[in-house]
Amino acid sequence: MEQVKSMPRIGEPAPQFEAVTTHGTLRLEDYKGSWLILFSHPADFTPVCTTEFIAFQGIYDELKKRNVELLGLSIDSVYSHIAWVRNIEEKMGVKIKFPVIADLNKEVASLYGMIMPGESKTETSRAVFVIDPEQKIRAIIYYPLTTGRNIDEILRLIDALQTHEKFKVATPANWRPGDDVIVPPPNTQEMAEQRMKEKYDIKDWYFSKKKI
Ligand code: BEZ
Repeated sequence: MEQVKSMPRIGEPAPQFEAVTTHGTLRLEDYKGSWLILFSHPADFTPVCTTEFIAFQGIYDELKKRNVELLGLSIDSVYSHIAWVRNIEEKMGVKIKFPVIADLNKEVASLYGMIMPGESKTETSRAVFVIDPEQKIRAIIYYPLTTGRNIDEILRLIDALQTHEKFKVATPANWRPGDDVIVPPPNTQEMAEQRMKEKYDIKDWYFSKKKI
């Protein structure tokens, strides 16, 4: 029986790796000081993955403005990756600017728990790991093989994480940059009384919003 490795979790250090990519050998530590979106796709030359690559490239410039790098991964060879990104450029007019890991021996995929053996033993699922500049995992998303991800949501997630980082606030459901944010709830009775006197948009003592 295949051994099940424990998967990294939010708040834990991202597992270190060195990998062959379409931009040469890269290590996780090369990304220290930047945010990183490490994502896997099931296989090269497949339609849903192609739409995702085009969509990831579509947010590439916005991510750069936010100090975020993209790094793809699948269990395909570097030659397959090169041929596929060349095909995307030739047939669909989109140049893929981010590197893609050729994880033929499944080393990185196993470290990050990107393979869901119940779904496929030979392909990585659609996993997304958001890694912060100190190389801590800050968010994880998994989608199955047959569902393309909402790539705009990944950009929204980055904005929410960076807003939390900068202003020490939380963000409500469907929050978008410019919307009001959630003020952390008071955690003593006295602070709860004080909260009711603040100039926030107060729904109740535990639920206040403010502009940033
Ligand atoms: C796709 O990208 O089209 C795909 C990949 C694996 C399974 C199903 C769809």
